[in-house]
Amino acid sequence: MKIFMDTADVTEIAEFANLGIVYGVTTNPSLIAKTGKSQAEVIPEISKLVEGPVSAEVIAIDCDNMVKEARELVKISSNIVIKIPCIPEGLKAVKILTTEGIQTNVTLVFSLSQALLAARAGATYVSPFIGRLDDIGVDGVKLVADMVKVFKTYGLSTEIIAASVRNMAHVDAVMLAGAHIATIPTNVLKEMPNHQLTDAGLKKYLEDYQNSIK
Ligand code: E4P
Repeated sequence: MKIFMDTADVTEIAEFANLGIVYGVTTNPSLIAKTGKSQAEVIPEISKLVEGPVSAEVIAIDCDNMVKEARELVKISSNIVIKIPCIPEGLKAVKILTTEGIQTNVTLVFSLSQALLAARAGATYVSPFIGRLDDIGVDGVKLVADMVKVFKTYGLSTEIIAASVRNMAHVDAVMLAGAHIATIPTNVLKEMPNHQLTDAGLKKYLEDYQNSIK
């Protein structure tokens, strides 16, 4: 499973990109609003920090304007992927963009039916939102597992990005479910290297080393 960062914060992305563990980035209008900058300012900066895909979301909700926005966004850098909401007009836009060779990430996906339509429209990526499903009492991880099974059964090449990840248990579960990618918020990514037994083990090793050289 590849790791993407789910943030538009350039400082955070730079920190993790330097470690070499983050391949791509996903943004959305809410994440960009948190930075206090515009999408036009932030996306070019992010696209230089990672070699993999950087998802930039369209604001239009009609096909023609989504396609227009997408054509402008991809001029920023060769690693831009156009994030399109899973609505009928969005699926039409995905079809057009796919024929133009523009990569897409169908977002706000909450059901297997939506995932199938996105894949059939030619989406490069599809993003099931697991945390938001959990919030309404639906098992978000199960949707990812079901999508993995269905995409394998029907030979669909669209890659699954587990999104709306809220904690390390989500990361472990979508890894086991076979998601191609998890897009992970910075607070969860920061927790991932840590384990109390690692800290305790290291403390003991350092104490024993100090005692051994006395
Ligand atoms: C990623 O593509 C999504 O925009 C993001 O994961 C949504 O996460 P949230 O449900 O925590 O806002």
